[in-house]
Amino acid sequence: MKSIAAIASGPGQPLTIEEIEVMPPREGEVLIEIAATGVCHTDAVMLDGLNAKASFPTILGHEGAGRVIECGPQVKSVAVGDSVIPLYGSECRECAHCTSQRTNLCWSIRHTRDLGVMPDGSSRFMLGREPINHFMGTSTFSRYTVVPEISLAKIRPDAPLDKVCLLGCGVTTGVGAVLNDASVRPGDSVAVFGLGTVGLSAIQGARIAGALKIIAVDINPGKEAIARKMGATHFVNPNAIDQRVVEYIADLTSGGVDTSIECTGVLSVMRDSVEACHVGWGTCVLTGVEASGQEVSIPPVWVRYGRTVKGSYFGGVRGRSELPRYVDMYMNGLIEIDALISHELSIKDVNMAFDLMRSGESTRSVMHFE
Ligand code: NAI
Ligand code: ZN
Ligand code: ZN
Repeated sequence: MKSIAAIASGPGQPLTIEEIEVMPPREGEVLIEIAATGVCHTDAVMLDGLNAKASFPTILGHEGAGRVIECGPQVKSVAVGDSVIPLYGSECRECAHCTSQRTNLCWSIRHTRDLGVMPDGSSRFMLGREPINHFMGTSTFSRYTVVPEISLAKIRPDAPLDKVCLLGCGVTTGVGAVLNDASVRPGDSVAVFGLGTVGLSAIQGARIAGALKIIAVDINPGKEAIARKMGATHFVNPNAIDQRVVEYIADLTSGGVDTSIECTGVLSVMRDSVEACHVGWGTCVLTGVEASGQEVSIPPVWVRYGRTVKGSYFGGVRGRSELPRYVDMYMNGLIEIDALISHELSIKDVNMAFDLMRSGESTRSVMHFE
């Protein structure tokens, strides 16, 4: 079947819009029509060549929502017409990770996903005679894409796909990082570093968890209004104060926050977000994605004196089992998504979407294929 898609040919190169051929789904696979897709910072990490596993040419995009067009043999859990959110983290319910019930990191198809191919080792995308790689197992920058059944969350049919697509990554990551990985208690203080969709959603998570003081940190002063709308009680631009941001936060909180959530992928910010935690009990949750090979160092005494450093992947959410509940939280008004969407663009404007993200002008761009 023909499909319009944005092709990333190599690191640092602008995407090109092409008509590609999408092969039919094979056993355990599902063909989806993407209704809308967000552009996440992790797409930019790949596009900028900062991901060592980069395998170009590829079709980026991992924050989409759509409908099932065709099911391959043996597919049982979704049917034609179902609304679905593609998951970059599969949930097979059979591997040691899934059955442990201790992690949402299903690694049953991780190897082929990271190679940019389907679990059988081949691609479903062709540009002329050239196969194009998949990305994160989702490739939502194509109107039609093929995804393993175990990487699909079936969601309620009345959910607006052009909004709940953000639950495919950014919103779920931020909300879940707080609700699942941070264990914020009512009355707690929380600092959120970096106010993209992930950070703004972490603010929402803190609000839902009952945090009293929610300190939003960003070097872009334009993020203050939306941060406050999401529930932040304080905003600080580290470049606009005459002390270190961790000292500023310590002054605001009698020594440090109960929880900090890092949502930038910047190493120095990761370090600050650990230091900003209260000695004795503060917990830092890292969500940002660093360039491949980067490391962050901290004095061991920071954790010896009772701080905890954790990370969060997709907000700790098991996509197939738990994402429908996140969709309910949006439909019930508990999670805000609409206000996070600053730009609605055509897929043809995909390069503009990346520019808007890099300049800080957008909170989230959502792209359509019409
Ligand atoms: P974004 O690019 O939309 O937002 C990042 C924000 O951080 C911007 O507002 C920017 O101004 C701010 N920032 C940059 N440098 C800063 C600094 N030195 N101090 C304070 N703020 C600073 O990014 P998005 O899409 O919200 O993603 C955030 C991070 O989370 C990225 O690293 C992304 O790759 C990662 N990510 C991780 C996931 C996971 O499962 N752990 C899932 C989704 C994204
Ligand atoms: Zn993402
Ligand atoms: Zn599994």
